[in-house]
Amino acid sequence: MKPIYFPEPFRIKSVEPLKMLTRAEREKKIADADYNVFYLASQDVYIDLLTDSGTGAMSSQQWAGVMMGDESYAGADCYYKVQDTAKKIFGMPYIQLVHQGRAAEKVLLGILLSGKKYAISNMHFDTTRAHVELAGARAIDCVVPEALDTTKYYDFKGNMDCKRLEQYIKELGAENIGVIIMTITNNSAGGQPVSVENIRQTRKIAHKHGIKFMIDAARYAENSYFVKQREPEFKNSTIDEIIKAIFEDADCFTMSSKKDAIVNMGGLVGCRDKALFELIKQRTISFEGFITYGGMSGRDIEALAIGLQEGIDENYLKYRIGQMQYLAARLDEAGIAYQSPVGGHAVFIDAKKLLPHIPYHEFPAQALAIELYKEAGIRACDIGSYMLGNDPDTGKQLEAEFEFTRLAIPRRVYTQSHLDVIADALINIKERASEIKGYKIVEEPPILRHFTAKLRPIK
Ligand code: F0G
Repeated sequence: MKPIYFPEPFRIKSVEPLKMLTRAEREKKIADADYNVFYLASQDVYIDLLTDSGTGAMSSQQWAGVMMGDESYAGADCYYKVQDTAKKIFGMPYIQLVHQGRAAEKVLLGILLSGKKYAISNMHFDTTRAHVELAGARAIDCVVPEALDTTKYYDFKGNMDCKRLEQYIKELGAENIGVIIMTITNNSAGGQPVSVENIRQTRKIAHKHGIKFMIDAARYAENSYFVKQREPEFKNSTIDEIIKAIFEDADCFTMSSKKDAIVNMGGLVGCRDKALFELIKQRTISFEGFITYGGMSGRDIEALAIGLQEGIDENYLKYRIGQMQYLAARLDEAGIAYQSPVGGHAVFIDAKKLLPHIPYHEFPAQALAIELYKEAGIRACDIGSYMLGNDPDTGKQLEAEFEFTRLAIPRRVYTQSHLDVIADALINIKERASEIKGYKIVEEPPILRHFTAKLRPIK
């Protein structure tokens, strides 16, 4: 029997035509792009799975909101709306607007890590890691071991390994750790959820040692939906109630609004402590802009206030996670390995398993991303050794825990037929996998290199 996925709780009012290139044209485009998908023109991409960040489709209500946006420098109406909505959703007394997630990290981590040596997280996203390093500290990942086996079922592969966390605190000294960060969902582990139980336990450990507990809330709504499905305590709770349980007693959070708040630009910082909020406001004014707009235009703030509500609607979340599960089921049929069970915003193909002949230092996940573009004009990206980069102390290529090719699905953008194209392309690639070659880097910057590095195929 075929499973029934929850269908789109919307219909389409406006469409964006796509260009269709031939395979020969795509081969030339990717070579001209130095085999870095970030250098491709979006017009040359058929299905863009580079990210789910800022790529969602806004609703007619949000577009109407764009016209209502108040562009005043100080005290704009939309500012009060977004404050109201965010305080209600997160249950945090202090909320600051910033222009995106990494701006939130820049504002907050600079404060929390001042005079400190370490940040520990279930897994840092790459910009979070960069801001920890820019603040002069080192980022330590501490995810549960279950996350490392992509074929093994585990309800909450995003969880913090609390035993190991305690050991790290003992070894490194609580006084040297500026913050413990819970990333929900755990993007780098495959968009995997974190349980409320694990959040509570981690928070308890942090507070026992006098360390601040922060949530990276980029995909908090998708995380909450998984909690409802998988954590018995919450099976009868509303999404709203689960969000309250997640944020309860967290000291602060950063958020990229470009994901679960379904807007093209925006970010938030939240906290409970007035003294901390004063510091956040000061840094926001210097880095982002006056506190009532925080680097955003009024029209985007208005759309954000609406998107925050739409992104936590349970029917929407059912459809959203259902898209991932549909694509994952097609890959199961074809025997293509991915981080399983599938996560909330993307399917993370296990490139180590699909291309076992390519070693980590020849970037199998990047090789697969390039193949997907050649095969069907699909743009995916490497979340593996190519993205991880070099050790900041030794300059040597690091070996990532995973070699994932991430197929991030934008919100409310692609149909089930698009998902079928993705599955069919992967099936075709699997058939000729042994012929696919690795890549070498011929030019790279020292930090966040995957965005701008240049590569060549290894002959
Ligand atoms: N934290 C997480 C968990 C993220 O996934 C991202 C962005 C950020 C912080 C930074 O937010 O982009 O608004 O500055 N992730 C995007 C992605 C870019 O493709 O996964 P930002």
